[in-house]
Amino acid sequence: MESKNKIFTVLLQLCLFAVVIAEDPYLFYDWKVTYGDVSPLGVATKGILINGEFPGPKINCTSNNNIYVNVFNELDEPLLFTWNGIQQRKNSWQDGLPATNCPIPPGKNWTYKFQVCAFHDPWRVGECKIHGGWVIFGWVSQVKDQIGSFFYFPTTGLQRAGGGMGMMQVHSRDLIPVPFDRPADEFAVLVGDWYNKGHKTLKSILDSGRSIGFPDGVHINGKFGKVGGGSPPMFTVEKGKTYRYRVCNVGMRLSVNFRIQGHDLKLVEMEGSHTVQNVYDSLDLHVGQCMSVLITADQAPADYHFVVSSRFTKKALSTVAVIRYSGSKGSSDSGAIPPPPPENSRGIAWSINQFRSFRWNLTASAARPNPQGSYHYGKINITRTIKVVNARYQVNGKLRFGINGVSHVDGETPLKLAEYFGVGDKVFKYDVMKDEPTGQDEQKASLAPNVVNATFRNFVEIVFENHERTIQTWHLDGYAFFAVAVEPGRWSPEKRKNYNLEDAVSRHTIQVYPNSWAAVMTTLDNAGLWNLRSEMRERAYLGQQFYFSVLSPARSLRDEYNILPDQPLCGIVKGLPLPMPYSGA
Ligand SMILES: *[C@@H]1O[C@H](CO)[C@@H](O)[C@H](O)[C@H]1NC(C)=O
Ligand SMILES: *[C@@H]1O[C@H](CO)[C@@H](O)[C@H](O)[C@H]1NC(C)=O
Ligand SMILES: *[C@@H]1O[C@H](CO)[C@@H](O)[C@H](O)[C@H]1NC(C)=O
Ligand SMILES: *[C@@H]1O[C@H](CO)[C@@H](O)[C@H](O)[C@H]1NC(C)=O
Ligand SMILES: *[C@@H]1O[C@H](CO)[C@@H](O)[C@H](O)[C@H]1NC(C)=O
Repeated sequence: MESKNKIFTVLLQLCLFAVVIAEDPYLFYDWKVTYGDVSPLGVATKGILINGEFPGPKINCTSNNNIYVNVFNELDEPLLFTWNGIQQRKNSWQDGLPATNCPIPPGKNWTYKFQVCAFHDPWRVGECKIHGGWVIFGWVSQVKDQIGSFFYFPTTGLQRAGGGMGMMQVHSRDLIPVPFDRPADEFAVLVGDWYNKGHKTLKSILDSGRSIGFPDGVHINGKFGKVGGGSPPMFTVEKGKTYRYRVCNVGMRLSVNFRIQGHDLKLVEMEGSHTVQNVYDSLDLHVGQCMSVLITADQAPADYHFVVSSRFTKKALSTVAVIRYSGSKGSSDSGAIPPPPPENSRGIAWSINQFRSFRWNLTASAARPNPQGSYHYGKINITRTIKVVNARYQVNGKLRFGINGVSHVDGETPLKLAEYFGVGDKVFKYDVMKDEPTGQDEQKASLAPNVVNATFRNFVEIVFENHERTIQTWHLDGYAFFAVAVEPGRWSPEKRKNYNLEDAVSRHTIQVYPNSWAAVMTTLDNAGLWNLRSEMRERAYLGQQFYFSVLSPARSLRDEYNILPDQPLCGIVKGLPLPMPYSGA
């Protein structure tokens, strides 16, 4: 016993020493969240501001930074933020969804604490961490850092329709090579559709069982512009220099296409992966997706338009923002606005072809084995296939959306907390939804918390099959997946021979075209409760989502962090004693 204690003390001292020399930097943010007038389409609406800003402040950080965001909720409704695409290793406690966190009540504050995306899985030999008062000691060597472009948004109610979203950009650490020269500057570009009605009205429409219908317009960074409309420049560039534009679609439902008058787009990054650097005239960007493009200011000094237009809609919505070369007088005489890609069924073929041109730059990734622990994802045997079929339903006369006949509902107790406190069975059942739809699943839905019991470290294939006439986009929290195929028609096991098993992009959001399917693969090696959702907010709000419950059988801190002592508790776990914490080995 005595000698054990002694070993522990020595280890602890080693750890404390290592922490002192190796601790990653901390970034602290204070966010005051309030209502305020915003007018992304020129019409004033009650929006959601962060420190008076819409879009919200940018989180600019470097992999492994520790981020503390102290959120003061000055709204009159509960509030949660999620960090779309940030991989929260072992830490679904900070994922900010109604099933993982109790919302911050009006008038209160709470601090999100997470490390951007260090994939110490497992940790470096001898590496130590302090987490929630625990000292954690790592012993196996494998490290990978997350980099890239992401965004945050509020997940409570339909608040995303009111704003509260902003860019997160994660830079590579100094020693890690980036596959392109450092750009002269970087621009955050949040684009998306917008409704002028305001998020509370929109929510009440959904609560009454109807659809919120078609958006009123599209915006760029909360602004609307017309060619010749005299808008001040949004971006200023110098001739001869190259700029990185990080573009995210933060809208509610519409896919968009973006392009720049007179300039090529060189794609370099997509949702955290460096891509093969192809050059495009324009790019399709679906809800929830982010891309980085490099643009060289190589034209005559003038004003040029950054154009965003909706895709696959009968009525095309569009907007422009001005890119001004410094020193130019601001003439708009820079030629015609570039046309959108073809629409209708030809447009889908165009867009699918573009998807197929997206490849992961394996050389650029060599320094960083992917989080799933292998490049050769094509050689891993699939242990489970889940086929996700989206459908819309009428349940008791009200509009609902669901997957395989189940429409998810959130309750008062976050499912993750109920599970952790050992009272999960009072709140939800596992596997209400089957891995494949059966018979009536596209006609009839049941309402229930939708939790899939996943086996830790299983290599899963998720097939999204869309039988509807509208495009879908899907997002998985806590992981990146390999987006191996997007094709028209129905999926069948033989289609696996069409998968890209070499250099599919590792990302977290995938589109599924009308009457088409998409397949992704990932290893469920990140313990926690992780949301798989429609990125279309109306659909997610009305039930088109589920959670993977990924439990480490070892109940070990190596696999999942303990809940932090300051985590607010609500519903049936309020006042319950903390369960036995996970242990350090
Ligand atoms: C963002 O972070 C990068 C890397 O940490 C740094 O070089 C850059 O100056 C930062 N930019 C801003 C606007 O803070
Ligand atoms: C609330 O904000 C105060 C003041 O910044 C801070 O000291 C406190 O830790 C915050 N509370 C939580 C739960 O984050
Ligand atoms: C991939 O990354 C490597 C190494 O960073 C870089 O040299 C190369 O140009 C990139 N290849 C492509 C096709 O983008
Ligand atoms: C995958 O499955 C095949 C066929 O069942 C088997 O022969 C092979 O050893 C498995 N590979 C791995 C890596 O488990
Ligand atoms: C979840 O699945 C595992 C096997 O993967 C099984 O051992 C466990 O009992 C299941 N849990 C529930 C609650 O169904």
